[in-house]
Amino acid sequence: MRRQIAIVGAGPAGLLLGHLLRAEGIECVILERQTRDYVESRIRAGVLETVTTDLLHRLGIDAGLNAQGMMEEGFNLADGEDLVRIRITELTGKHVVVYGQTEVTRDLIAAAPERGLEIVFEAKGLALHHVDSAAPFVTYVKDGVDYRIDCEIIAGCDGFHGPSRNAIPTGKIRQFEREYPFGWLGILADVPPCHPELIYSNSDRGFALASMRSPTRSRYYIQVPLTERLEDWSEDRLWDELATRFDPISLNGVTRGPALEMSIAPLRSYVFETMRHGRLFLAGDAAHIVPPTGAKGLNLAASDVAYLSDALIGYFKRGDESALANYEDKALGRIWKAERFSWSLTKLMHRFPEDGAFERRMQRAELEYLAGSQAMQTAIAENYVGLPL
Ligand code: FAD
Ligand code: PHB
Repeated sequence: MRRQIAIVGAGPAGLLLGHLLRAEGIECVILERQTRDYVESRIRAGVLETVTTDLLHRLGIDAGLNAQGMMEEGFNLADGEDLVRIRITELTGKHVVVYGQTEVTRDLIAAAPERGLEIVFEAKGLALHHVDSAAPFVTYVKDGVDYRIDCEIIAGCDGFHGPSRNAIPTGKIRQFEREYPFGWLGILADVPPCHPELIYSNSDRGFALASMRSPTRSRYYIQVPLTERLEDWSEDRLWDELATRFDPISLNGVTRGPALEMSIAPLRSYVFETMRHGRLFLAGDAAHIVPPTGAKGLNLAASDVAYLSDALIGYFKRGDESALANYEDKALGRIWKAERFSWSLTKLMHRFPEDGAFERRMQRAELEYLAGSQAMQTAIAENYVGLPL
């Protein structure tokens, strides 16, 4: 088989890229290791920046977003019982939209057949070949049959655990990493949110986040040590913990209900440089990870794809190699700023086991300063809504 471009991974990065290229008549195929059901039921991010919603509007894959997306004009940072509201719309003129990554993914997959976007699910044992030549190709196995796709470009959109990054020789790369000594335990449930806006809380019992998916569906997270196992947390135990942390500061108090999902995700900051090797381009979690505190993971995948699709359209339509050459610089500029923001908000809002009374006072002082400083609130708000492309 021959295609102009092979995209590895049907997460948000691969699906958005595939649709943007198909809209320009470029022949592409998306190769995904998991089943469609698995991909569509993964619960992950919930807050979309304008960069992400703009891409969905541009593609016209926005019926769900328009109908169910919740426009958020502010969010809250809490220290103990003190709540600081960050008025994002008043301070930046922009807003964010609460609409789940799960829904974004489902919408993009559902729209694929009518737009001629080919997605191969359950593509096993995928390998990338000759990525630094003019004739790269990808091989995989589906239903016991071997396949080979010859292409001009390979887009590695296969997340943190995918094979694309490893196709780049170690002598060409640099990796920057910070692991955090905790993870987030999350719960999704069909209960009304405890507050009309998100609350990120730094409490004596550790970080907690009250988020939502709709007026009747809540998403909560708490900071847990990396040693914690999901089996140690009954639903009741988690609801008790959430009520302790949010009842005193939220408008409605925590409503309990059966969990639709519970999971633990470790926190990490990671950047992989280079994002290009020959004919292979990386985008999204394949090239970088942020701790979820800034709600940036999915949005960074979208901004990578906005840059990469422009570059690829320039290349395929006009033979413009210079656009390809600029991709990495453009993407990394935005990535590092999002890394900084996610890291600093993580430092401000979590309890680190190695920290003592001094570091705690520093957090307290920063939150008190923030409460009284419009300049500081504006800086947080403009990072939260997303820096311009
Ligand atoms: P992914 O969504 O990881 O998609 C990569 C795709 O590639 C997957 O479908 C995978 O199955 C596929 N793939 C992998 N290996 C292969 C292979 N060998 N062959 C073919 N396909 C392959 N961000 C937030 O902002 N807020 C959150 O609350 C949040 N929670 C998260 C929870 C978890 C458990 C994880 C892992 C991430 C979370 N993130 C969160 C981050 C956010 O979800 C990611 O940044 C976003 O999914 C990145 O999209 P992506 O398309 O680059 O990668
Ligand atoms: C979520 O709703 O899943 C969510 C929201 C904000 C974050 C992280 C996750 O910063």
